[in-house]
Amino acid sequence: MNILILGSGGREHAFAWKLSQSPNCNQLFIAPGNAGTSAFGTNLAVSPTDFAGVKKIVLEQDISMVVVGPEDPLVKGIHDYFINDDELKRVSVIGPQADGAQLEGSKDFSKQFMARHRIPTARYETFTPATLADGLSFLETLSPPYVLKADGLAAGKGVVIPLNLADAKSELHEMLANAKFGNASSKVVIEEFLHGIELSVFVLTDGHSYKILPAAKDYKRIGEQDTGLNTGGMGAVSPVPFANTDFIKKVEDRVIIPTINGLKQEGITYKGFIFIGLMNVNGEPFVIEYNVRMGDPETEVVIPRIKSDLLDLFSGVANGNLNEKSFETDSRYATTVMLVSAGYPEEYEKGKAISGLDKVSDSIAFHAGTTNQKTSDDAEQTVTNGGRVIAVTSYGTTMAEALQKSFANAELIHYEGKYYRKDIGEDLKKYFN
Ligand code: AMP
Ligand code: GLY
Repeated sequence: MNILILGSGGREHAFAWKLSQSPNCNQLFIAPGNAGTSAFGTNLAVSPTDFAGVKKIVLEQDISMVVVGPEDPLVKGIHDYFINDDELKRVSVIGPQADGAQLEGSKDFSKQFMARHRIPTARYETFTPATLADGLSFLETLSPPYVLKADGLAAGKGVVIPLNLADAKSELHEMLANAKFGNASSKVVIEEFLHGIELSVFVLTDGHSYKILPAAKDYKRIGEQDTGLNTGGMGAVSPVPFANTDFIKKVEDRVIIPTINGLKQEGITYKGFIFIGLMNVNGEPFVIEYNVRMGDPETEVVIPRIKSDLLDLFSGVANGNLNEKSFETDSRYATTVMLVSAGYPEEYEKGKAISGLDKVSDSIAFHAGTTNQKTSDDAEQTVTNGGRVIAVTSYGTTMAEALQKSFANAELIHYEGKYYRKDIGEDLKKYFN
């Protein structure tokens, strides 16, 4: 079958790499894709939120399945757009409809959903501009640090964690009264701060049955030892050494099963990924957030650890027979180290020539923000095209071995302003002693 992947990051490169290995994958298209995805299929310059543009590709290229990478088109209802269009309704879409996508699109919805289905999460309340004064009083009942979440999508910046009450109050004021995140902060969730260690668990579901994918830990801050600004993710490790069978069983019983059953009970047909951001609080799982897509860069370690045919699993999602599909994982570790642009996550320059990709061996260089440009002599040159540039993924029988390969290959790739964290996985080493 012909497949269209929507998105342009390392996640979509990893999907393209894996789907292209399936005997049932005929032609692969990626919109808009990047220099890395162009090695596995045809990139088409259409934005994932340009539904009419996506429709045109689907009809012209005889696409049977659309795999949606990012959350934006899902929250905006791309799956519903397909279902409601006579020419598109035969096409499978991997990713929930707008009702299910609220799990990520509205923090208030997701907290209420968790409350309705008794899924463990931090205690919270939701406030609007009309109830700002109550919100300020509620902050006084909590102890620092404070967790304030803009209800809607805010390009990954909507969670603010002030360390003292005065900052928390002024932040709440900014969000509600001054619309700091525009419409996204017209409602704000304030919740209790959970102390523990974070990890992410990924689930693929057809709305009835599910497969639990490998868990991963990502590294969000720009600086080593988790300092500095939040980024989209600077690296990831899978499996997570402290997420043993007992812990994952708790996650399955207390979170995954109630989530799948809750969606069903509420009449939400959910076909796609559920990304569960968790805090491990003394061995007990609490949900921090749901995302309705795969994580990036977590995908760059999770997908390489899936041995089964991903297209076959996606067909199971589309056809509602995921329970009949075999699912096997690779027991090796996978690690990824993200090479970023100087200045990221703030202002950075694009268009820096990348060299050394051909030197990478025993690692996979998943492109996160790259594009191919014509040089003056009409050759092709891969250049940087984003803050996050390349995710260097490696396997190892130990985490240390995988990391050593990722770091060694990170050194072989060059462009002006390259930066990466050299402490990915460092905090996990204590679990091996
Ligand atoms: P984001 O990925 O932008 O949604 O950032 C959310 C981050 O804020 C999470 O990865 C956690 O590190 C942190 N966070 C969110 N909610 C809580 C909470 N209730 N307690 C502690 N940390 C939290
Ligand atoms: N790496 C976190 C995310 O994809 O949201």
